[in-house]
Amino acid sequence: MTTLSTRAEVIERLSRSGQRGVLRCLTCGSVDDGKSTLIGRLLYDSKLLFEDQIYSLQRDSRKHGTTGEEMDFALLLDGLEAEREQGITIDVAYRFFNTEKRKFVIADTPGHEQYTRNMATGASTADLAIILIDARKGVLVQTLRHTYIAKMMGIRHIVLAVNKMDLVEYSRARFHEIVCEYLKTAEGLGFESITPIPMSARYGHNVSETSAEMPWHKGPTLLEHLESIDIEGENAQDAFRFPVQWVNRPNLDFRGFSGTIAGGQVSVGDDITVAQSGKTAKIARIVTADGDWATAAKGDAVTLVLDREIDIARGDVITSSAQRSEVSDQFAAEVLWMHEDALLPGRSYLLKIGGQVVPASVTALKHRVDVNTYDQLPARKLGLNEIGVCNVSTARAIAFDPYKDNRETGSFILIDRFTHQTVGAGMIEFGLRRASNIHTHAMDVTKDRRAAMKGQKPVLLWFTGLSGAGKSTIANLVERKLADAGAHTYSLDGDNVRHGLNKDLGFTDVDRVENIRRIGEVAKLMLDAGLIVTSSFISPFRSERSMVRDLMGDQEFVEIFIDAPISVCEQRDPKGLYKKAKAGEIKNFTGFDSPYESPEAPEVHIDTSLVSAEDGANQIIAYLNATGRFG
Ligand code: ADX
Repeated sequence: MTTLSTRAEVIERLSRSGQRGVLRCLTCGSVDDGKSTLIGRLLYDSKLLFEDQIYSLQRDSRKHGTTGEEMDFALLLDGLEAEREQGITIDVAYRFFNTEKRKFVIADTPGHEQYTRNMATGASTADLAIILIDARKGVLVQTLRHTYIAKMMGIRHIVLAVNKMDLVEYSRARFHEIVCEYLKTAEGLGFESITPIPMSARYGHNVSETSAEMPWHKGPTLLEHLESIDIEGENAQDAFRFPVQWVNRPNLDFRGFSGTIAGGQVSVGDDITVAQSGKTAKIARIVTADGDWATAAKGDAVTLVLDREIDIARGDVITSSAQRSEVSDQFAAEVLWMHEDALLPGRSYLLKIGGQVVPASVTALKHRVDVNTYDQLPARKLGLNEIGVCNVSTARAIAFDPYKDNRETGSFILIDRFTHQTVGAGMIEFGLRRASNIHTHAMDVTKDRRAAMKGQKPVLLWFTGLSGAGKSTIANLVERKLADAGAHTYSLDGDNVRHGLNKDLGFTDVDRVENIRRIGEVAKLMLDAGLIVTSSFISPFRSERSMVRDLMGDQEFVEIFIDAPISVCEQRDPKGLYKKAKAGEIKNFTGFDSPYESPEAPEVHIDTSLVSAEDGANQIIAYLNATGRFG
C-alpha cells in the first residue's frame, strides 16, 4: 500500500538527482482514454503527492468523481475547471516528477481532435510518447494520427499503453489483437522501440506494480520501462548551434551574443562560423549569470564573446566551423497545417526558424499523408490537421539543419501575414541545393537605363474588383490616355492571360493564388523592361495582392479598387456569367460561392456605380501626376 509523503519528504526526493538523464514524455490519447488517470497514478505511486493534495483529491472525488468512493486520479491533474465540466483537456501541461532512478517531465496534451496543435507543441521536445488506447475501443484514427505526429516531431520511442484492461476482463487475446492492429501501420514508421503494455491505470495494474490479473504479461511495468529506457548518447554527436537572440552591447568595451545553445557544445578557443555570412572567429569567453564558463552545452543560456569584431545580428546562427549548418532559400519539409483556412501553394506566409523571420511560400505540394494508413495522396492544398510534404521557398537564404539532425534548428512555424496567427509547423527534410546553384546574372543594360530610354518611371497599376465592376474598361481608358501622352505601356488582362500563360488554371482558391503569383512575376519583368503596366484581375485575396506589392515595392505598385455593389455588377452582367452562377452552372464564382476580400487601403478607390469610367480614369491619371509617378 502506498503511503502518503510529507511535504519535506517530497521536496527531498525531488531534489535528489536521478542517475539517468531526464526523460521527456508525451502522453497522447483520445477523450476518456484515461490519460489523466494514468499520470495521476504515476505521481501517486511515486509518492509525490503532498498530503494536502490527497485530501483535496478525496474531497473532489466525492464531488466530481466518476469512481464512487475510490479516488479519481484524473481529478488530480485537471486543474482547469473548464476541463472538468467538458471532460476534455484543453492545453499542454507539463508535470515534473522523479523516482530514485530518474527525473521525468511529462507533457499532458489533449486528446480532442482539434487540438493537434498542442500535441505538436508537446512533442517537439519529447523523447518518448505514451500512446493511450482504451482496450474496449482499440486503435482509433487519433491513435494513428498521434503516432504519426510523434514520429514527425522526432520522437524515437513509443509506449503503447493499452489501458482499461479491467473492463475487458484482462483479456490477453484482446491485448494482442490491439497490438497487432497498431503494429500493422505503426511499425513502418521506423521508431527505435515500440513497447506495448497492458494496464489498468485506475487500479494500478502494470503502472508501477505488476499485475496479478495479467501474469501473462512478461514485459516491464510502465514505470520500470520509463526508468530504464536508454536515450543517452542519442544526441551526443550534435554539431554546435547557437541562434543569436540579441546582441548584448552595454558599453563600448563589451560586445557579446546572447541566446540558448540549440545543439552540441562550445568551449573557449573553439573556431566558429556565422552560418549566413560565412564570417569566422574564435570563442574568447562564455559569459553566464554564474560567471565565465570554459564549456557550455545544449540548453545553456549564455553570452558568447568572440576574439574579433565581426558583423552578427539577431537571427544569425553561430555554428562550429567544422560542421556548419546548411544555408539555402529552398528546402523540402513536412508540414502540419493547423488552421481552418487551408495552406495554399504560392501564398506568402512568414516563416520563423529560431530568430530568423522571412517571407516564404510553398512552391510544390508533393503529397498529403493519410494519417489512417500513412499512404501518400495527391493534394493541391492542406486543410486543418493535415500533413503534407512540400518544397518551401524563402525570400532570403536561411540557416537550418535537417530536422533529424537538430529538432530546434530544423523546425519552423508558418505565420499568417495578416492575422499573425501560427498556421503551420514544419520539419525540414533537406535543403534543395539546386537553389544555391542559380545566380542572378548582372546585365549591362539595367532597368534604370531601359526606363530612361522611354523617359518614364515603371509602375504597375493593379486593378482589383468583382467581375463586371469595370476593371478592364477603366484600365483600357487609362492605358489609352498614357499612350496618348507618349508612355510605353502594356496591359495584362484576366480573360486574355487565362487564354495563354494561365490556361491550365481554373477558379479554385489554389488556382487563383497561382494565377496572381504568375501575373505578379510577369508584371515584375515588364517593369524591369521599363514599362508602365496595367493589370485587371479580380485578385480576390488580400494575401496575394500584398505579395505582388512586396514584389514591386510601394513606389511601383498602385492598388486601384474598382468598386461596385454586387447587385450593380449582376445587373450589368457583361458576359452573362452572373446569370449562369445564379443558375448554378458555374462553380466558385466570385461574390457567390467564392469570397472577395476588399482592399483595406487602396491607393485609389473608385465606385463605378457613382462615377463614370471616364471620370474614374481621369482620377487615376491625376493620382499618378500628384505622386510624381507620371507626367
Ligand atoms: S482571379 O480571381 O484569378 O483574379 P481573373 O481576373 O483571372 O480571376 O479571371 C476572372 C474572369 O474569368 C472573370 O472576369 C470572368 O470573365 C471569368 N470567370 C469564369 N469563371 C469565373 C469564376 N468562377 N469566378 C470569377 N470569374 C470567372
